[in-house]
Parts: sequence; C-alpha cells; structure tokens
Amino acid sequence: MSTHLMSTYNRQPVTFVRGEGVRLWDEQDREYLDALCGIAVTGLGHAHPDISDAICEQARTLIHTSNVYGVHWQSRLADRLAAISGMDRVFFSNSGAEANEAAIKLARLHAHNRQIDDPQILVMETSFHGRTLATLAATGNPAIQKGFEPLVGGFLRVPYGDLAAIEQMAAKHDNIVAVLVEPVQGEGGVRPAPMGYLGGIRALCDRYDWLMMVDEVQTGMGRTGHWFGFQHVDGLLPDVMSLAKGLGNGVPIGACLAAGKAANLFAPGNHGSTFGGNPLVCRVAHTVIAVIERDQLLQRAVTLSTRIRTGLAAEFSGEPAIVEIRGLGLLIGIVLDRPCGELVRRALDAGLLINVTANSVIRILPPLVLSDAEADEIVTRLVRIVRDWLAENAEQVSD
Ligand SMILES: Cc1ncc(COP(=O)(O)O)c(C=O)c1O
Repeated sequence: MSTHLMSTYNRQPVTFVRGEGVRLWDEQDREYLDALCGIAVTGLGHAHPDISDAICEQARTLIHTSNVYGVHWQSRLADRLAAISGMDRVFFSNSGAEANEAAIKLARLHAHNRQIDDPQILVMETSFHGRTLATLAATGNPAIQKGFEPLVGGFLRVPYGDLAAIEQMAAKHDNIVAVLVEPVQGEGGVRPAPMGYLGGIRALCDRYDWLMMVDEVQTGMGRTGHWFGFQHVDGLLPDVMSLAKGLGNGVPIGACLAAGKAANLFAPGNHGSTFGGNPLVCRVAHTVIAVIERDQLLQRAVTLSTRIRTGLAAEFSGEPAIVEIRGLGLLIGIVLDRPCGELVRRALDAGLLINVTANSVIRILPPLVLSDAEADEIVTRLVRIVRDWLAENAEQVSD
C-alpha cells in the first residue's frame, strides 16, 4: 500500500483487482465471497453487465457538462426517484454525507422561514450520518467527533428508538425544526427502528411543524426489501430523504429528496455541486432502478433475507455467544456477547468479506442478486468461521 496515502483507514491486507456478481479476486487471483458490497454499495454485485454497458455507452456519449445547463439523465432519474419514493423533488450530490448536508441546509431554511434563528435538529445516539463537519456533528459517536471540535452546532441528541425522549425534548425546546433518523441504524449496530417509532416521529413532526428527515444512505435502494426503509411503515412519507451508496452501484452519486413544503425551500444560489448529477452517474443510477424493477429484486431481497436469517438461526441455535440475529432485508446483524472485531480478518483469510460494527455485531450486506446457492454458501462459511473462533476463544478462557 502506498505510503503517500493519508492514513484515514485501517485497511485489510488485500487488494482486489476484479469482480463478478458476488465474487471478488485479489492480486494473487484468490477468490472471495463478498457479503459486504463495499458497505451496501454494490447491491447489483460486481461488473453487472447492464451497469457496465450503461457506463461505457454514456462515457462514449457525454460524461459531464454542468448544472448550469439541462442534464437529460438527471431529469429522467429525478422522475424515477420521485415515482418510486413518493417524494417531489431531488438535489443530486456525490456522496451520502453531502446528501445529508443538503438535508441539514433544508432544515435551516425551514427554520428561517419560521423565524427561528437558533434552530436545532433532533439526532440520535449511535447514529451515523457522515464525516463532513456538519454530518459528523449530527453523528452520535464521540470517537468520530474527537479532534474536530468546535463542532457545528444546532443538534440535540436523544436515544434511538425512544419516542418519549423526543416528546420530552419538544416540551423543553421551542426551537426544534427537524428530526434526522435512520430507519435502521447500520453503523450503530444494525438496529431497526422499533415498531411505531417512525410513525410516531411523523406525528410529532406534523404536530410541531418539524421536518421529518430520514437518512436512507445505507437502507435505501432495495437493501431492506422495499425501495426505502421508511416504506415498511404503511402510508408514511418523510419530508426529506437522503440517499447514496446503492443508488449508483459504485459510481459516486448521492441524492437529497424532499416532499411538500420542503421541496420548494432551495432557490437558485442556495446550494450546488459541480459534479452532482452528471450524465454518467445519473444514467447508471437510472439503470440500477431499471434492473431492480426488471429482476424483481425487492421481492428477492425479502426471500433471500428469510433464507439467510433462517439458516443462521438454525445453525446458531443453542449457541450462547449469539445474542440476537436482527436487521431488515439484506441488512443483517449477528449480535455477539463479546467484542468480535477480529472476525473480519479471520473471515477475510477464509475468503469471505464481512464487517463488524458497534464492536460486537457482525454485519452482512450481501448483494440483491445472490443465487440461493450463494446465499447458503455465505451462511455455511460464516457459521464455520464464527464457530471456530468461538471454540478457540473458549479454550483461551479455560487455559
Ligand atoms: C446512514 C449513513 N449515512 C451517511 C453515510 C455517509 O455516506 P458517505 O460515506 O457516502 O458520505 C453513511 C455511510 O456509511 C451511512 O451509513
């Protein structure tokens, strides 16, 4: 690895050079099973032929002009995103953090329209919203904020899943203007919103004229078995939604969508991005939506989720170190009773890509295009790796 790279990641000792579907190959041509998808990005797997064709055709036609002109694929993608989400308008960014920055700016404009000059956005403990200055301040993880003080102000924090805590905040503060929430906390330990939580937030937002802003960067684009995580609640529509990751299957694109009154907050000059929504990335994202629809991958995510979770539950039944298997769709967490970060390396050595989050939660985010056999292979391999590791740990404890 080059010493000229800034040291922002603890990298695993592997470099991948090629991929196809759920499989990756490293520089030594060793094969790996990718149950992580670049952390929820390559939902259609690697080198998907429709995506590769879209990239090549558009690269030969037109990659970039500017947002000071009309952009054909940007308009087409905005129309498709509005249709599948029920939202009204879209701003295109290049990443999830930037999509959330746009959301935070919308909340500030909403505040100023309401003549609130010290607005607060309610955010959650153990949340993750990105690494820019505003989004790291919104993030509920002190380790991510450390060293970057003074933090951007204007955020009030409550525990995730606790509707009463939000009501208490509402009683104490009359300058709250928005709530920013993940339908499932991914980085926070694969924690799905409890029953009634998102609907309860919607009701409070309506009561107090707050914007309900959902961060769907990890949960969006079919990952949970619906297009978007909020769609698991019948009839729910947020005011603002942020997207990225799976939207481009690996090309950098993010989006901030808004509905109703929030959709008309930005005016020319309020926000922008040089690269945001260029013809190349928008055509790819448009193709991602078309493939998910054509191949019925939302239904497939549900079926695969059941298959994987049932498999894991059967294999791990009676294993006291496994506390819980939880998640939504193909965002699956296996909660252990102990820190298990070293499993990432163990799995890598065994040819399987996984991730550990919140110290003791194995997170898998396999692609939506898995075959049944590949789903079973992920389960079999993961179970063996965890069992071997637990057996070794038990020996160490008894030594
Ligand atoms: C829920 C959520 N929001 C925002 C982000 C930040 O996205 P990006 O890394 O594209 O800036 C992430 C990334 O992991 C995320 O999971």
